[in-house]
Parts: sequence; C-alpha cells; structure tokens
Amino acid sequence: LSAVTAAIALTVSAGAVHAACDDGEFVVKFSHVTNTDKHPKGIAASLLQERVNAEMDGKMCMEVFPNSTLYNDNKVLEALLQGDVQLAAPSLSKFEKFTKQFRIFDLPFMFNDINAVDAFQASDSGQALLDSMQRRGLQGLAYWHNGMKQMSANVPLVEPTDANGLKFRVQSSDVLVAQMEAIGGNPQKMAFSEVYGGLQQGTVDGQENTWSNIYGKKFFEVQDGITETNHGIIDYLVVTSVDWLDSLEPDVRDQFLTILAEVTETRNAESTKVNAEAKQAVIDAGGVVRTLTPEQRAKWVEVMKPVWDKFKDDVGQENIDAAQAINE
Ligand code: LMR
Repeated sequence: LSAVTAAIALTVSAGAVHAACDDGEFVVKFSHVTNTDKHPKGIAASLLQERVNAEMDGKMCMEVFPNSTLYNDNKVLEALLQGDVQLAAPSLSKFEKFTKQFRIFDLPFMFNDINAVDAFQASDSGQALLDSMQRRGLQGLAYWHNGMKQMSANVPLVEPTDANGLKFRVQSSDVLVAQMEAIGGNPQKMAFSEVYGGLQQGTVDGQENTWSNIYGKKFFEVQDGITETNHGIIDYLVVTSVDWLDSLEPDVRDQFLTILAEVTETRNAESTKVNAEAKQAVIDAGGVVRTLTPEQRAKWVEVMKPVWDKFKDDVGQENIDAAQAINE
C-alpha cells in the first residue's frame, strides 16, 4: 500500500491525475489541455480513466495527462501518429492540417445551441466525419461536447465595433481568423496553454472561449469582462490513430469502445450544466459578465455571418442547410 501511495503522490506532484499503471500493463496515454474540475472534457476524461481502469483491469490501464502537461493541441496529433500517446480530444478547430470539413463547426452562429450540434453530429454526415481522416492515419471515435463561446477583452465589448483594432487570440483555425477580421480585430493563433500569459502581458487583448475554459484557466482575471455572445461552439473529437486501434485484440477494442460510448453519452448530457456552473464560478470569483440585448446581439450576427460565404465550398452548402434545418 505504501508503494502505491508513494506512486500516486509522485504522479500528482508531476501534475498528472493518473493512477500509476503496473509494470508490463498495457498503457493508454490520453493527453489533453484543459483543467479537470468544472470542465466537460476534464470530467469526461477522468470518468473514462476511472471506468477503463476498474473494468479492464489487467487488460488496459489509462493514464490521463490534463492541462497540456504532456502535449499541447498543436503537437498531440503528431504524437498520436508516432505512437507517443494513444488518445487525445482536441477541439474540432484544431484539425485544419488534416481536414477542412470540420470548418462547419467554427462558422459563427451556425448552431443555436449544443443540442443542435449534437443532432448534426449524430446525422449521417456528422458520423461520416469521424472516418474522414483515416487516410491520414487518424480515427475519430466520438464527439465530446464543451459549449457555446463567449467573447472577452481588456475593454468592454458590447457592439462589434468595440472589437476594432483589438488583438484576439484564436485557435489554429482559418475560420476563426476570418471571424475576428470580420469584426475588425487582429487575430493571432496561439496554443491554449499560452493564452493566460498572452492576455496578462498584452500580447493579445482578447479571446473567445466557453465558460468552462474561461473559468478553468482564469482568463476572467486578466480581462475587463466577458460578453455573453454565444456566437459559436467548442466541441471535441476523441481521436486515436488507425494503427493503434487496429492493433487491439477485438474483445479489448470492443470493451474499450463500449465504455467510451457510455461515457460520451453520460457526460455529453451534462455539458450545458457544467458550463452554467463554470459561469457562476466566474461571477462568484468577481468576474464581470455582460449580456447583450437582442438588438445588440443582432449586430454581431450581421457582422460575423458573412464569413460563411468564404468557407462554403470547404464545408458544403448541403451541410450548412442541414445544420440550419436542425436549428429550426
Ligand atoms: C482552446 O484552445 O481554446 C480550446 O480548444 C481548449 C480546449 O481544449 O477546450
């Protein structure tokens, strides 16, 4: 027992929250970038680890590395292909080098809420996207929800013109670059782990993210306030390599995929609630939250939505139509 306790203490002090796997056990490393508390992805990853390690004891041992302790999102897909990690869950905005089809998820005001995102992902075209990067060696296993994005900056943002000339951190997605340019901002791609420092030091003035990320990485501490725009979404692809999945014994693979599907269903149903709790936690910690009147929000829609035109060949008009039909 004392050896076990020492091993746990060691992994906790290294910033990881994984139980130590036994020597010779079949280890699955899952690398992600967010916090674990009050976060849809963090909670889902912990539950997956807990269930795999309890139910597949002796067959598989999962180690979760949150908070970019192992890789940031720009490196993790390469690490998957090289077999250095076996599982990741980057946001759908981080796959630009592999496919342009995910761009639909970044288009501003495309989905009314996470239920609409869920319905689109469950449709035939959404499910086909899971297999769309097989030729590049990546296999999508599931979609995990985060939530709706909000805008923040070091000045109050009420009208889109308030964003004029501000430098905004964006994820590595050209759609998000175009979106920030549409409101007169200067977008800058930056890894998630760099955002707090970038905001604090003024390398960037603002950013967009979900409540759980704004709370989890304390962005509200280094911003004037958060404006509740709900202008876009952050969702994740649980992804592995084709090679790794193929290498599993069929019964091991089936059991793992069944647990993953169950965790996905359980935690996706809670993602909106988790973000609402994170929003409340931001307010409780003294963060400023601004809401928009319907007229003010309409102005953000008017300025951002023309971005769709630029990317409609990448995502397919039929997919845009399908997403819009779900909203109604
Ligand atoms: C971001 O880079 O802002 C997010 O994709 C981080 C995350 O994984 O939620």
